[in-house]
Amino acid sequence: MLNTKIENALNEQLKIEAFSSQYYLAIASWAENNGLNGTAEFFYQQSDEERMHMLRVLKFINERGGTAIISAIKQPDVTFKSLTEVFDSFLNHEQMVTQKVHDIVAICLDERDHATNNFMQWFVSEQIEEEALVRTLIDKLRLIGEEKSGLYFFDRDLLSAKNPNVTVNNE
Ligand code: FEO
Repeated sequence: MLNTKIENALNEQLKIEAFSSQYYLAIASWAENNGLNGTAEFFYQQSDEERMHMLRVLKFINERGGTAIISAIKQPDVTFKSLTEVFDSFLNHEQMVTQKVHDIVAICLDERDHATNNFMQWFVSEQIEEEALVRTLIDKLRLIGEEKSGLYFFDRDLLSAKNPNVTVNNE
């Protein structure tokens, strides 16, 4: 059975994951409208992944005798001037998520809730992977700078960045 403190923290996490899904959906749509189809596809997939994270938390809360709360999500701000700005925002957001995940782990340790701590370790690992992926992409963007053909290939490569089985049509 979840104690109230942990139930509240998990519901907060549920909301963060739901916002992340909405945020990446908004970025995907922005990218699509700006001719960045690889970036759009990447963020559509990222949005789907965040929805799965949200469901993971939701089901855990309910399975452990708590009540998952589905709350309103604020509209994401997606006014970007460049791809670098998109990926810097992506990293900032994921770093915030990592901090929240670590905060919940700290509460679990305080409350001696080993089951929730164990559940949260999946998110700890996931955040390491996500941050590493974003950093790799930001490093590539820094190398490319403002060079148009480099940005074109960067965007095209993103079509297969999350799913190696996706093939690029015009190759
Ligand atoms: Fe579910 Fe990218 O945090």
